[in-house]
Amino acid sequence: MEKITIAIDGYSSTGKSTIAKQLAKALGYIYVDTGAMYRAVTLFAIRNGLVGGKHENIHALVQLLPKIRLKFIYNDDLGFSEMYLNNENVENEIRGLEVSKHVSRVAEIEEVRHMLVDMQKKMGKEKGIVMDGRDIGTVVFPDAELKIFMDASPEKRAYRRYRELLEKGQKVSYDDVLKNVQHRDQIDSSREFSPLKKADDAIAFDNSDMGLKEQFERIYNYTLRIIENK
Ligand code: DC
Repeated sequence: MEKITIAIDGYSSTGKSTIAKQLAKALGYIYVDTGAMYRAVTLFAIRNGLVGGKHENIHALVQLLPKIRLKFIYNDDLGFSEMYLNNENVENEIRGLEVSKHVSRVAEIEEVRHMLVDMQKKMGKEKGIVMDGRDIGTVVFPDAELKIFMDASPEKRAYRRYRELLEKGQKVSYDDVLKNVQHRDQIDSSREFSPLKKADDAIAFDNSDMGLKEQFERIYNYTLRIIENK
């Protein structure tokens, strides 16, 4: 069966990665969470004191970009790939609120986007890939055969994220999570380079009132239809 490229974009905490992971598994495709790559660069910047507060130094971060090695390594027990930053597993740390607070700032930097988009294009050369992010259908794979743009109300998204963080044992308040979601939406949609926006040929997919099973079935069916017609 011919392999295709699937781009899943949308607002934060719309459940993109859950669906993208399931879809990749069902199709035997590679799954790439590009948010994890922006998060890992942000963690690197935080650790080096280059973002946040008075000490922000974007110029120094750009200078240090060649020192950043990112790798996804598949974890058999978990059934998904984990993010490694310079050979250290940072999968848990990149999901915390500290990284979430600064990641949109880092994702605005043109040089960061160039570096990560280049890596992402290389990963998708052979097709057979499901990639989720903000600019996959618009910038990384403008020719993707299937593009989905996910959305849900900010309150629903914040609630999902809040539950997720609690389950991971992180102490957070719903209000802080909602503020973070709204703040990131605003920065992600208004930044100069590759702002978050729906590609003209993407399917708008609002999952505010949809369970996981229904979401998966709908998107899987879109995929099968495209593959059958190739
Ligand atoms: O998907 P996520 O919430 O883990 O993404 C974290 C941040 O990274 C998000 O606020 C925006 C940014 N991002 C981006 O700008 N472009 C992408 N392709 C993926 C994520």
